[in-house]
Amino acid sequence: MKTYEHVYDILSKSPDFVTGESLAKSLGVSRTAIWKAIQTLQEQGIDITSVRKKGYYLEKGDILLPQDISKQLNIPVYFNPDSNSTQLDAKHGMEKNNPTPALYLASSQKAAKGRFERHFFASPQGGIYMSIHLKPNCHFEELPPYTMMAAAAIVKAIQRLTGINTEIKWVNDIYLNNKKMAGILTEAISSIESGRITDVIIGIGLNFSITDFPEELANKATSLFTSEKPSITRNQLISEIWRLFLTIPTSDLVKVYKEKSLVLDKQVTFEQAGKTYTGVAKEIGDKGQLLVLTDDGREKWL
Ligand code: BTN
Repeated sequence: MKTYEHVYDILSKSPDFVTGESLAKSLGVSRTAIWKAIQTLQEQGIDITSVRKKGYYLEKGDILLPQDISKQLNIPVYFNPDSNSTQLDAKHGMEKNNPTPALYLASSQKAAKGRFERHFFASPQGGIYMSIHLKPNCHFEELPPYTMMAAAAIVKAIQRLTGINTEIKWVNDIYLNNKKMAGILTEAISSIESGRITDVIIGIGLNFSITDFPEELANKATSLFTSEKPSITRNQLISEIWRLFLTIPTSDLVKVYKEKSLVLDKQVTFEQAGKTYTGVAKEIGDKGQLLVLTDDGREKWL
């Protein structure tokens, strides 16, 4: 671990101020090194109060610890402090033949993308941005319902660690108090020769502790923690999400997805072949398809 990571570790566990002197002593480094570490942490958005003669107190914020997450999950975790998009980081990893499964992590992203090539807002601080790379090597019809599995793992991980109840908006959004809190983007790469899906990259963007959203999102987006100090760290949530995703049987995750789904029995509007339909969402299939009973009495699987 780097000095600033050690300093973060000590401060995060201390209920009171810690002097620069005691930090320097316990880490065997100079006071200047401690001062620099504090600066690094503050640059990463960690809120640290510094008071003469009392030392430093960590008010709010955490740092990402890829090695810790890697140890928890027993898979490689690649952290890019200067990421454009963790989806692209994962694709580069794939081109380099990095082992799989592997997790690609960033504290922010300069060109994050959402579904349908839409822009996705990534905050400079307080967000979780990550993509997992898997090699399913199967035909499209045999693919596990990855987006559903990731959504269920997010909702379940949050519930287990914080008791907060979030919901899933078909097909890939996680909602808290009727506002979007997280989104999932699943991309697949196939081989023309074998007709198989060789690689899948599942990206998650989660507003963990974000207070400043762009004006156009202010009424639509929310964060898991808003003004209060988070009761858990991003590292804990990241590890728990992927632990559940990688270990819980698919059928159980699908069950959670259905239980936590916001759309069932609600009025929905959709377009098909240029025509707009309205109806009521009746059922979610095991592959994520939505059954809608349209207002003109027809059943349509989306
Ligand atoms: C959506 O809501 O449309 C899906 C958003 C997915 C965003 C995540 S953030 C991590 C990964 N990297 C990206 O560029 N996109 C996904």
